[in-house]
Amino acid sequence: MYVCICNKVSDKDIKASIQDGATTMRALYKEHNIGSQCGKCCQCAKQVLNQELIKI
Ligand code: FES
Repeated sequence: MYVCICNKVSDKDIKASIQDGATTMRALYKEHNIGSQCGKCCQCAKQVLNQELIKI
């Protein structure tokens, strides 16, 4: 599913970034520009980030 519609970033993209070492919203912003436009995706992106970090 798309997490950030503005930048066309899916949960799979976020999970791949976390596997590559991203651990913060700032890292996701740098890599995908998540939250850079309307900002509505930030809460969902953070949920995906936290769920994935728990697994690591
Ligand atoms: Fe991510 Fe708009 S949905 S910035």
